[in-house]
Amino acid sequence: MPRDAVETKGKLWAKVALVTGAASGIGRATALMLAREGARVAASDVDAAGAARTAQEVSSASGQAISIALDVVSEEAWSHALSRIVETWGSLDILINNAGLAAVGTIADMQLSDWRRVIAVNLDGAFLGMKHAIRAMRKTGGGCIVNVASVSGKRPYANSSAYCASKAGLLMLSKVAALECGAEGIRVNAVVPGGVKTPMWEKTELWQDLLRQHGSAQAAFEKLAEGTPLERFAQPEEIAEAILFLVSDDAAFLTGAELVLDGGLSA
Ligand code: NAI
Repeated sequence: MPRDAVETKGKLWAKVALVTGAASGIGRATALMLAREGARVAASDVDAAGAARTAQEVSSASGQAISIALDVVSEEAWSHALSRIVETWGSLDILINNAGLAAVGTIADMQLSDWRRVIAVNLDGAFLGMKHAIRAMRKTGGGCIVNVASVSGKRPYANSSAYCASKAGLLMLSKVAALECGAEGIRVNAVVPGGVKTPMWEKTELWQDLLRQHGSAQAAFEKLAEGTPLERFAQPEEIAEAILFLVSDDAAFLTGAELVLDGGLSA
């Protein structure tokens, strides 16, 4: 795109993007940021009302969005989502596989159902998303996929077996996809966040313990950030900025990469 068009219309002008887990946290911030850069955004989530709220926020900021109820573990739901996007806008250019969740507990104590749920959402979900997105992107000659992994996929954390294993698997899956799709003009990269201030933390027992011990959300996040060289958690928008970079033409020669955003935790 010519420079003056980028300046007036945004880096993703006329692109079509699908963001999973867009009701909350990193997914919501990413949907808003991609729309701000001119993309037409399908905000999807298993939380249909939350996805609709994000789409409404995009529209209120003069962006273009639709919301889609999408449980990423359902292949049928992926088929419907892709059909709806292609019917609405004609193509899919960008997929952000962001939906994710965690389960806390030792391997010895974890229920198989909890293990399977985490692997299903974080890994099967991304596999299904890539499968269907690649098929759609092929038809228009290319696209970009970003998978939201985690530092937990690069180093082990006790009590996080399913989460760590799912994110390690996701990092490898991203690289395999990059090899398979490069010749078709599809780039596949991963972002690797450290701690990010999102509602994900509030869903854990660890968070309730920290709140009890330290009194406030801010103090709890400060405790969690101990050991991070930048001494804080990221804001969701800081991860969204990195995702924007990866799907823009600024990263045109980048595929199969892991962009680590962890405040120096793994340095
Ligand atoms: P969040 O809990 O704020 O948002 C996650 C979203 O995913 C929610 O809206 C939820 O409804 C949705 N979701 C859950 N299961 C789903 C399913 N089956 N289908 C569709 N949507 C589903 O969490 P956050 O922090 O924004 O997480 C986003 C991604 O970032 C996740 O993949 C997470 O593992 C990853 N991440 C988060 C970090 C953090 O510190 N918050 C650190 C590293 C990675």
